[in-house]
Amino acid sequence: MDGFLASQVVHWQAQSGRHDLPWQNTRDPYRVWLSEIMLQQTQVVTVQAYFARFLVRFPDVQALAQAPLDDVLHQWAGLGYYSRARNLHRCAQAVINVHGGAFPRTAQQLQTLPGIGRSTAAAIAALCFGERVAILDGNVKRVLTRYLGFDGDLAQVAHERRLWEHATQLLPHEPALRDMARYTQGMMDLGATLCSSKSPACPVCPLATRCVARALGSPEKFPVRTRKLKRSAQSIWLLWALAEEGAVWLSQRPTPGVWAGLYCLPLFDERLALQAVVGQPGESALQDLPPFKHVLTHKDLYLHPVLLRLPVRQTLPIEGQWVDAAQLARLGLPAPIQKLLQVGKACGSEQASVRPSRGAA
Ligand code: ADE
Repeated sequence: MDGFLASQVVHWQAQSGRHDLPWQNTRDPYRVWLSEIMLQQTQVVTVQAYFARFLVRFPDVQALAQAPLDDVLHQWAGLGYYSRARNLHRCAQAVINVHGGAFPRTAQQLQTLPGIGRSTAAAIAALCFGERVAILDGNVKRVLTRYLGFDGDLAQVAHERRLWEHATQLLPHEPALRDMARYTQGMMDLGATLCSSKSPACPVCPLATRCVARALGSPEKFPVRTRKLKRSAQSIWLLWALAEEGAVWLSQRPTPGVWAGLYCLPLFDERLALQAVVGQPGESALQDLPPFKHVLTHKDLYLHPVLLRLPVRQTLPIEGQWVDAAQLARLGLPAPIQKLLQVGKACGSEQASVRPSRGAA
């Protein structure tokens, strides 16, 4: 290895990478850890607002560890994948109780903490402490498989393991080793910007002259992952907030994701998360309606509507707005949600009983 990739990435990051994200320009492991967990399944633009609010409420790991879990879930509401928030809380408590309040400084130790996997541990260790250790998230897999022309099927553990070895071999040696943080950020930035899945910007890529996938003329074919999508099932809780004259609280679904861009009742992975958002009115104000099934291409959704009647249109602590019955007709709603609201209207929202429905993913 002649260090081409490492030195190019370090140089490119300095010239053209991202420098102004709120979790950059700090080596504080609390901030870096929080951002890495938030960024695992959520886009940068969404994370920015949550990250800022979260830090106001929980300015350091001690504040987070001491907070009730409900408060953490409340701050997390809308980010999805609530196991991340639960692990975040457990991890903060482990940092306080097991590590004396300071994050461990090596990837190996960081990996023992709840919710911190191999790549996240490496990101924290490299970004905060300059450890020479490789990250391998989805973006970096794309950069490396293309650069190397690595066509092993990443659905197979053996191939994934081999890619980890390549990632480690390609890490900077001196002098770029002093720039592990910049290298790590550069790999992330390259994957998130130029080396995109569908239309990579090869002509301006710092790795283009040695990129095997580019030479083959088919960067989009990498990485190779043949795993067939297995059908899965998911339970979702719907907050059906209903105010005077049948107004409902709707939020626009994020892109990408199920029902991207459509207006929808706020969705939650867990009932507890819904309860955490509603907070104030208390459990007794919520009415659980019968769940129903909605079939997507790759997934069965089990939808659990939870009705919250409000005397007036008070603003709810979740992204969205009140929508009149008249406005409803003009908005795009996912079919099962539209059906639920219609049946609810017909029944005066006393008891909505909706038949299983079928739709496209
Ligand atoms: N995605 C994961 N980690 C990131 C980071 N540190 N900056 C930008 N995007 C990321």
